[in-house]
Amino acid sequence: MKILSIVGARPNFMKVAPLHRAFLQHPEIDSKIIHTGQHYDARMSDVFFNQLELPKPDYFLGIGGGSHTQQTAKIMIEFEQVMLAEKPDVVLVVGDVNSTIACAMVAVKEHIPVVHVEAGLRSGDRGMPEEINRIMTDCIADDLFVTEQAGIDNLKRESIPDEKVHFVGNVMIDSLVYYRQKASTLTLVKDLGLEPKSYVLMTMHRPSNVDFQEGLTNILKIIKETSKSKTVLFPVHPRTLKNMETWGLLDELRSLENVILMEPQGYLEFLHLMENSALIITDSGGIQEETTYLQVPCLTFRASTERPVTVELGTNILLSDLDPVSVAEKVQDILAGRVKEGIIPPFWDGHAAERIAEILIQKYAN
Ligand code: UD1
Repeated sequence: MKILSIVGARPNFMKVAPLHRAFLQHPEIDSKIIHTGQHYDARMSDVFFNQLELPKPDYFLGIGGGSHTQQTAKIMIEFEQVMLAEKPDVVLVVGDVNSTIACAMVAVKEHIPVVHVEAGLRSGDRGMPEEINRIMTDCIADDLFVTEQAGIDNLKRESIPDEKVHFVGNVMIDSLVYYRQKASTLTLVKDLGLEPKSYVLMTMHRPSNVDFQEGLTNILKIIKETSKSKTVLFPVHPRTLKNMETWGLLDELRSLENVILMEPQGYLEFLHLMENSALIITDSGGIQEETTYLQVPCLTFRASTERPVTVELGTNILLSDLDPVSVAEKVQDILAGRVKEGIIPPFWDGHAAERIAEILIQKYAN
């Protein structure tokens, strides 16, 4: 059984790594990795291949940048060539980025079964490009592997037949479990002159937060307020950096005393930074899950989440009112120890990829 697994953007690498590792345990699986090139900076891509022990991709399509349509269309054209050359039995896509839907569409048109890992998540916000990618990918996928109960409920509501849906847990947590010990040996926090739990870790990259001047100016105010009580560590995403520069906000950000700006971090470094932080402020999808697993408080700057279990069972709190004063109050509350306790959701145990491999073998290896 030949499986082509697609990676494109940063959040895909830690999901495909445990799958590839699980596939290697089964001689009947020929596992190949296709990198679309959606993320191309060394710090957004190469470092993850190295740290997550992924082999060099079998194909690199080199499609980075451009509008959503250009990016999606170019990936489709290039991936079609790979499909025709490789004639896979299964195409596996993860998550909700443009590479996910682009490759799923090509596979379906070639009548190749599509497997979607991390299916069924819905934020209910169609203004998010990822939400469109999720809905469309699930609609055409043959097997849908789900991380939480809400995913099953959403797919039922969308009339996806039950036999296509498998509740297996979370492959992103597989990576976290696998690499947590290794990350704990890093000295980055100490090297920055910081004590564990003495800083707030921040990431911000959603178009709805950083693609308009007012929003980004407000984020800057929030960083400023937060840094009055705790050091803020801020690895800056390329999109956010570009926009900060465009709107003349970067100099002020750089001048803030208690703020440490960093390049995007590697997987192990970021895991180490998360585990040692007092609080994480983010708009990421995956970080909501990772903080829930690590039981670190997380404030998510979004009105809705496609990962509701992180709010229902985990440590995640959504904030849509980004008034700097009320955000500062919330931050103070958490830093004073009034934190939301959480538990780890069912099946987030480090073995999701193995379950997926077993199911795929049963269904597709003959
Ligand atoms: C993409 C995903 C998002 C995911 C995020 C993680 C989609 C629709 N969005 O958003 O779901 O949470 O990745 O980072 O697929 N850029 C660089 N270097 C890079 C990569 C990007 O400079 O290595 C620049 C691009 O040229 C572009 C901007 O950053 O100007 C945004 O990149 P893009 O891939 O379009 O989307 P992300 O915002 O990263």
